[in-house]
Amino acid sequence: MLQSKLSPSLMCADLMHLGRELKILEQNGIEYLHLDVMDGVFVPNYMLGTDFVKRVKDACSIPLDLHLMVTNPEEKLSWFAFGEGDYVSFHYEASSDPVRGIRTIRERGAKPMLVIKPETPISVLEEFLPLLDGVLVMTVRPGFAGQKMIPETLDKIHDLRQWLDSLGLDDVEIECDGNVSFENARKMREAGANIFVVGSSGIYAKGNSVEENVKILRRKIL
Ligand code: DX5
Ligand code: ZN
Repeated sequence: MLQSKLSPSLMCADLMHLGRELKILEQNGIEYLHLDVMDGVFVPNYMLGTDFVKRVKDACSIPLDLHLMVTNPEEKLSWFAFGEGDYVSFHYEASSDPVRGIRTIRERGAKPMLVIKPETPISVLEEFLPLLDGVLVMTVRPGFAGQKMIPETLDKIHDLRQWLDSLGLDDVEIECDGNVSFENARKMREAGANIFVVGSSGIYAKGNSVEENVKILRRKIL
């Protein structure tokens, strides 16, 4: 089983005190920073732009986990600051040439990841799986924090993990994004996910410090 990793969704962090928030994440051994980029077309929301990504990259040592919810993502990769060790994901549903996007990300030293919406079957990924470092299975509809996990997505995670392992692609990681609560994190881990996008229902859940939430989440995703 692949080592579990946390990827806090920065759109859920206290953006008015981002420098402090990033320090806390560094102090807590966080593996990735999840940056949701939204263009208002692919999803009905705007969030985190190109300058924001650059500023975070310059300010923090934690690798990026850049989630592009934009149309024609393979044509926009040059707009973003990313490189060695960063994950860059884009939506299968938004791309007219996923192989081109995957290749561009890899040429820049980063790790390519394809994203599928809850309603998109894993079967569409077949030709891309051997080219990827990871697959992001959306467990809510992309675009907004604070939603409830769509239960059927757990089966997709399970089936994808089985499929990858049967193909000998054991080191291709599975990330889940959306309503990764303490309770859901355990179910997602049991289904086969190993990278967890944690936002308002997880690391930034009310009533606890980030440090306390990290401790609880780590126990849930062991
Ligand atoms: C979905 C969102 C999620 C979300 C995760 O598009 O972008 O990444 O922030 O946070 P919660 O825990 O609120 O689902
Ligand atoms: Zn995301």
